[in-house]
Amino acid sequence: MLFAISSIFFIYFWGKIAIKQDQASLKKKAAYAALDYIKIGHIIGLGSGSTVNHFIEALLSIKHKIEGIVAASLQTEKQLKQQGIPVLDLNTVDKLSLYIDGADEVNSELQLIKGEGGALTREKIIAAASQYFICIADESKFVNLLGQGSLPIEVIPMARSYIAREIIKLGGFPIYRDNFITDNGNVILDTQGWDFTDPIRLERLLNNIPGIV
Ligand code: 5RP
Repeated sequence: MLFAISSIFFIYFWGKIAIKQDQASLKKKAAYAALDYIKIGHIIGLGSGSTVNHFIEALLSIKHKIEGIVAASLQTEKQLKQQGIPVLDLNTVDKLSLYIDGADEVNSELQLIKGEGGALTREKIIAAASQYFICIADESKFVNLLGQGSLPIEVIPMARSYIAREIIKLGGFPIYRDNFITDNGNVILDTQGWDFTDPIRLERLLNNIPGIV
């Protein structure tokens, strides 16, 4: 899913200052750096993925400060509960100060591709509902042009073949993600071959196909 939304993004390219570190430690540094943005009483939105897992570990030291977390995936929710961190339903929350999440690709406009972990729809909803998006990404995620990997698209199962045909008409190449059902009961098409010179146009085009979530 493309994230070309109007939130403010802070990206941490820790790799640029941390020469020759492995990716896991760069992810950890990005995740721990996000702690600086958390204030007493904050309700935070939280995405999913390995960088977010580092953030959950980091959060343990300050968990008493926050009121709770709105989780973007059942997996994140489970991990938070295991750590004794309160999990809130988005419908019960008036104001989300921050959304914290990783990304699969980031360009210099701070536009993102997300969804390798399959939690893209809830991630995008919670990001949109939050005042700020703190994107925790190591430098391996930076690309000059988006689309170096796949663009994951969540679709309603009965619309899968129709959407795959529409994607092909638009110049994309869909691959059905085998044995994967999203937390919303949908399926994922990992797509490639797009012209990414105008990501916002592409995002709008895809959002207009019925059945794409
Ligand atoms: C999940 C996502 C993740 O944020 C993205 O895949 C990055 O994951 P990681 O931190 O493991 O590299 O979009 O849907």
